[in-house]
Amino acid sequence: MKAVAVLPGKPNSVHLQDIPPPKLTDQPQPHVCRIPDGRAVLVKVLQIGVDATDREINEALYGNAPPGGDYLVIGHESFGQVVEVGHKVHELKPGDYVSCTVRRPGGSLFDTIGRNDITSEEVYYERGINLCHGYLTEYFVDDMEYMVKVPQNLKHLGVLSEPASVCAKAIEQAFLAQQRLQVWHPRRAFVLGAGQIGLLATMMLKLRGMEVYTLATKPGPHRKSEIAEAYGATYVSTKQTPLADLVKQVGKPDLIFEATGNAEICFRAMEILAHNGALVWTSITGGKHEVTLDAAKINLEWVLGNKLLVSSVNGNRRHFELGIQALSHGEHTYPGVTERILTHPVAGLDNYKEMMKILEDKEALKVYVNVAK
Ligand code: BGC
Ligand code: ZN
Repeated sequence: MKAVAVLPGKPNSVHLQDIPPPKLTDQPQPHVCRIPDGRAVLVKVLQIGVDATDREINEALYGNAPPGGDYLVIGHESFGQVVEVGHKVHELKPGDYVSCTVRRPGGSLFDTIGRNDITSEEVYYERGINLCHGYLTEYFVDDMEYMVKVPQNLKHLGVLSEPASVCAKAIEQAFLAQQRLQVWHPRRAFVLGAGQIGLLATMMLKLRGMEVYTLATKPGPHRKSEIAEAYGATYVSTKQTPLADLVKQVGKPDLIFEATGNAEICFRAMEILAHNGALVWTSITGGKHEVTLDAAKINLEWVLGNKLLVSSVNGNRRHFELGIQALSHGEHTYPGVTERILTHPVAGLDNYKEMMKILEDKEALKVYVNVAK
């Protein structure tokens, strides 16, 4: 069967790879973890989302093949339909829609307790990213442990399960960490960045009843500003209203959700957080980027203001469940809005070159491959 793969370490090596179709009895990641007897699930791939991670893997900035091989099947944002289940799987049946988590357990205590999303090991195993093949293919097998059911009436948003899990985790982490304050009722949130993560975070924060400002460079109206406003947030172009001016107008935010992919903004965000506030970083910034800022001022304000920085990556199955619940809640409260994030469908695995090309387009929100119906 077909798969879209790269040769890690070799820039622009994306290609179609012929791989054997999986069987229910396969062990897809034997070097990481084994599927317990009877707990495997065979999934037919319907749609796979791609993002900057896939582009950067193709640029050879990171990504590794499974041991013993030279290629890595990419694609970590999965959505598919169950074809066959092992005799000890009672949670799913053929025909059910699923998304499958990304990270697989390493050897740390956190991995042992099911929190591989916060592994303390340097090496992490992620399907489609590092040391494990991904989902940009026709069928895959994995352990029921990593399969998350997508309700039938949410199947049009199923491909957003993984990005939604990343947002749901990041927000939950902030609220968990803020329990240090004993009482925390954040009123105002700034979401920095209006890409897929910024917009999904906007929705989730609005669902929590907050006053949300979603910030990006480009003046609206355009699709991103319209989606943010349809969720009930205020879209702000930082070209028209720089960060400092916005703070003067509306006040400092209690929560900042950073999702710009820009390292300087990660740090600039530290200059505007309210007392007792939380800044959440989700960007994964590659390369090198030096900035000059007033470290003494930030240090003073942060200590005197008891401020908190939380970073968050990945999501385990519980975060996928939270993300899917939020998508469902969002669909109920803002019907038809979230599907506007699905901007760039790619027709089939054969069009992998077009897929990589679209990933360079800054206006693209969600690029995804329609693999099968
Ligand atoms: C994925 C995460 C992953 C991270 C680091 C992101 O694109 O959404 O699941 O942990 O990359 O590889
Ligand atoms: Zn991703």
